[in-house]
Amino acid sequence: MKQVVLDALNKQINREMYSSNLYLSMSAYYASINLSGFAKWMEIQAAEEMMHAMKFYHFLLQRGGKPIIGAIAEPPAVWDSPVKAFEDAYHHETLVTGWIYDCVAIARSENDYATENLLQWFVNEQVEEEATALEIVEKLKLANNNPQIILMMDAQLGQRATAPVSAGATT
Ligand code: FEO
Repeated sequence: MKQVVLDALNKQINREMYSSNLYLSMSAYYASINLSGFAKWMEIQAAEEMMHAMKFYHFLLQRGGKPIIGAIAEPPAVWDSPVKAFEDAYHHETLVTGWIYDCVAIARSENDYATENLLQWFVNEQVEEEATALEIVEKLKLANNNPQIILMMDAQLGQRATAPVSAGATT
């Protein structure tokens, strides 16, 4: 693998791990305000992000590259409101999409078709991740702090199933 591609993917491993910690921190925040459904949703999201990191990790190993596990920045621990945390989650996903696109551009410029192919999975995944987070943000805005609606959403989000172990790892 070209060094520039290796560096870009290692940077992305770090970002996916940060994403995982960010969502785990959001999960802890929601748990602290007794929104256990939101907390569960975020905990599952944190696990998915770690799978994303591992997908890059295993790809690097397969290609003879060395994954670098560097320091991960500390995520925020508190948010002003349930909607604010989800707004941050949505905003973060838009950043991730930009980073994935940057990786695609680097892979393409180096004619690294295998990396570009791997990244296509992430391009598609980001469409879903952004849409899901935005839908929840919009619903929370509609709820306008109405506790009944927020509790209904909490019950709904609490039904999120754990992603199958293979999702993100082999698909
Ligand atoms: Fe791994 Fe939510 O992007």
